[in-house]
Amino acid sequence: MNITYFENNMEKPAILGGTPVRDSKIYYGRQCIGEDDIKAVADVLRGPFITCGPKVTEVEKELAQYTGAKHAVVVSNGTAALHCACIAAGIGPGDEVITTPITFAASANCALYCGARPVFADIDPETYNIDPKSIREHITPATKAIVAVDFTGQAVKIKEIRAICDEYGLIFIEDAAHAIGTKYDGKQVGSLADMTCFSFHPVKTITSGEGGAITTNNEELYRKLVLAHAHGITRDDAEMEEAPHEGIWYYEQISLGYNYRMTDFQAALLISQLGKLDSFIERRKQIVCQYNEAFKDLQGIILQKEIEESDTCRHLYIIRLDLDKLTCTRRQFFDAMSAENVQCQIHYVPVYWFPHYKRLGYAKGLCPKAEEIYKGIMSIPLYPMMSDKDVTDVIKAVKKLVAYYIKK
Ligand SMILES: Cc1ncc(COP(=O)(O)O)c(C=O)c1O
Repeated sequence: MNITYFENNMEKPAILGGTPVRDSKIYYGRQCIGEDDIKAVADVLRGPFITCGPKVTEVEKELAQYTGAKHAVVVSNGTAALHCACIAAGIGPGDEVITTPITFAASANCALYCGARPVFADIDPETYNIDPKSIREHITPATKAIVAVDFTGQAVKIKEIRAICDEYGLIFIEDAAHAIGTKYDGKQVGSLADMTCFSFHPVKTITSGEGGAITTNNEELYRKLVLAHAHGITRDDAEMEEAPHEGIWYYEQISLGYNYRMTDFQAALLISQLGKLDSFIERRKQIVCQYNEAFKDLQGIILQKEIEESDTCRHLYIIRLDLDKLTCTRRQFFDAMSAENVQCQIHYVPVYWFPHYKRLGYAKGLCPKAEEIYKGIMSIPLYPMMSDKDVTDVIKAVKKLVAYYIKK
């Protein structure tokens, strides 16, 4: 067969004037809000407490129950959750915090907020999660904590990271912004690290608009988290340092904290969303199965490997372009997907490539595997409200472009 035969028979990409696989744009992620969610929020807005009220307490109980952790503290967003976790861990100037470069900047920024230095360990090139071997190579006497990110929703190698933390006396902070609903060795993410941080941003598996939470089994860390997210203020007589309890108005600020509180109407939305989490997980898993099946033997595409211990509720579905087998660049493929009306996203630019990090002395080349993986990755649409047609359209678009760009 010669090249002309292929070209005549191939569907032309929309970016080159062909017909797009669909008429309307589909995005890589979006929230799933129903009338019941809206009612839950409206009920709180009509009531007496829109912040510091009973819904916050209720959602904290539910989150602790769901994850199997002893305690949960809800906060204004996932970034605040990471900041509070670093404060509770006692991270400060002179400390180092090991994390992954393939993450949202907040996973590293939380160390900077505390005056500490983020240190980037390289990733496993098959799972894209932080590699415990690389963590070991980056430990110094200044290392205080590990912020391990369950990237795309897949749990990190928790057992190995726990062992490293125990060996070196480090605090294990799991950044599970992508991973609510994921289990590791049969246990819910949220109950396994010293502290686990969640995000409830709209593209995440469940949302409260903006929102976050930290779960922990440790009483001392819990007490510090409560203080960190609400001005360092206590109303508990037992914790007060100066005055005896003068009256119900009296409180004491006993440490430096922030206002990272979640409102009651956000908490109501989160309670409502938690009620649907199992159905969201099921639908996400169905879509992931369809994608895996469709792409498993597709030359030109590499799929993310799953470790056996992780029963993953995937937040992101990543295809990695095998650029040696394709005639296009990642940018060309990405733009061609957009022209097919499938809007992808890239998760993530290695954090230390950003100008802010460059100014702090970080340079390209720190984590060669992460940098190599970054060149080819692309997140395709994944959210529970995708219809069967949406899913087949995405598959069609990927296959159409791979067929066009594959080296013959
Ligand atoms: C891995 C990771 N960590 C932390 C965050 C921060 O969460 P938020 O956007 O709720 O502040 C995000 C959000 O995108 C994230 O993806």
